[in-house]
Amino acid sequence: MNACVVGLQWGDEGKGKVVDILAEKSDIVVRYGGGANAGHTVIIGDQKFALHLMPSGAVRKETTCVVGNGVVLDPGIFIEELDGLNARGISLEGRLFISENAHVVLDYHKAEDQLRENSLGKNKIGTTIRGIGPCYADKVGRSYAIRMADFRDMETLGAKIRKIVDYKNKFFNALYSADPIDADEIIAKCHTYRERLVKFVCNTTKFLHESIADNKNILFEGAQGALLDLDHGTFPFVTSSNASALGLGPGCGVPAQMVDRFIGVVKAYSTRVGAGPFPSEQDNEIGNMIREKGHEYGTTTGRPRRCGWFDAIAVKYTAAIGAINEIAMMHLDTVAGMGELKVCKSYTLNGRETTFFPSDAAELSAVQCQYETLDGWDEDLSQIKTYQELPRNAKNYIARIEDIVKVPVTILGVGPKRSQVIFRD
Ligand code: GDP
Ligand code: IMO
Ligand code: MG
Repeated sequence: MNACVVGLQWGDEGKGKVVDILAEKSDIVVRYGGGANAGHTVIIGDQKFALHLMPSGAVRKETTCVVGNGVVLDPGIFIEELDGLNARGISLEGRLFISENAHVVLDYHKAEDQLRENSLGKNKIGTTIRGIGPCYADKVGRSYAIRMADFRDMETLGAKIRKIVDYKNKFFNALYSADPIDADEIIAKCHTYRERLVKFVCNTTKFLHESIADNKNILFEGAQGALLDLDHGTFPFVTSSNASALGLGPGCGVPAQMVDRFIGVVKAYSTRVGAGPFPSEQDNEIGNMIREKGHEYGTTTGRPRRCGWFDAIAVKYTAAIGAINEIAMMHLDTVAGMGELKVCKSYTLNGRETTFFPSDAAELSAVQCQYETLDGWDEDLSQIKTYQELPRNAKNYIARIEDIVKVPVTILGVGPKRSQVIFRD
């Protein structure tokens, strides 16, 4: 049985936790997109792990981890993660496979991300400055791209880096009057990267197809959220990869037809980090209450997350483009004690009602949410183990969302810990 876990909002839905839980019954966990812009939190007892590039299955010592070709890998951050896990007694030796086709994020990508964001002023995207856009741009542009396979031949890699840095320096200087980047420094770091990482580099597509033929259980871990998808999200306020379920095939060479379950993760409300339209945003006391109760501060950048009501129109759209057949709703505990809860059930756009999400940022900025108000509940959910035990109003809230989105909620989060989860039969 293969399953794919993907965010259906603007990221940070709790994918790390869901993947960690489902990894118990999986042989292999595969990250297939994004880069160190992701921050996936796994909490086991009193131990907290914040993973950026490593598949969340890494915390389980018996799980094989794959970093697919769709990931843009920052080797410095990846090595920090390996060392951090090692220091906590978790070794990846012998159970980590990195795609030789994964593209490499180097310092000039991060510099470009920062320079571009600075130059955009109030029009900036609010990126994580992890070099994601510039690295994917080099991938698409081809001539200046570096892949993990390139670490196998350091002489050729060194010459290639010199050529690229020379080009980037001319470009950064002309456009931003930026200080030059030192190619030797980058090449020196690359020697360390090679020493530490080249042993993990292989053809992961071959490995995954052999594993499928072997009837292994594979779990695919999405990064970001479908509303940040480059093609189907709120462009231009998106990330630079196909962060919806549609990114799976290109990101690791395993097509959707080979995956049985597509599990979309949502929060019981909405959040967004960075700029861009957010129709159900509550930039007021309600948003502040959600932020404080849900500890809504970015895992990667520490930025306060923008918070708002659950947008069922947005999730209906992302569930549709991902052929999502199950929803995992996290943070149900967070919305307890809020009195009434609102769910966005349609938009009005230029005086007309619509239930289809207009992903274009300009159009989306012009919609007004039409809400349905539901009664909340005050009970603490954090110790609840079964769906039956949930307060009636919590069940009504879930049912109403299922009604609009047309996908069943099968997994519920009632707290950040691995144990705080309810599986609905
Ligand atoms: P990801 O990027 O989708 O993996 O999500 P993040 O880890 O960035 O953010 C999710 C946050 O919510 C983390 O701090 C988790 O520990 C926390 N979390 C996950 N599920 C739940 C839940 O059901 N209840 C509560 N209160 N916190 C949760
Ligand atoms: P996880 O996997 C939330 C957002 C950034 C910014 C936009 C573009 O933890 O859910 P980028 O650095 O990718 O060029 O930034 O995308 N963003 C995320 N927001 N969760 C994430 O990942 C994100 N990854 C990128 O805040 O608005
Ligand atoms: Mg996150």
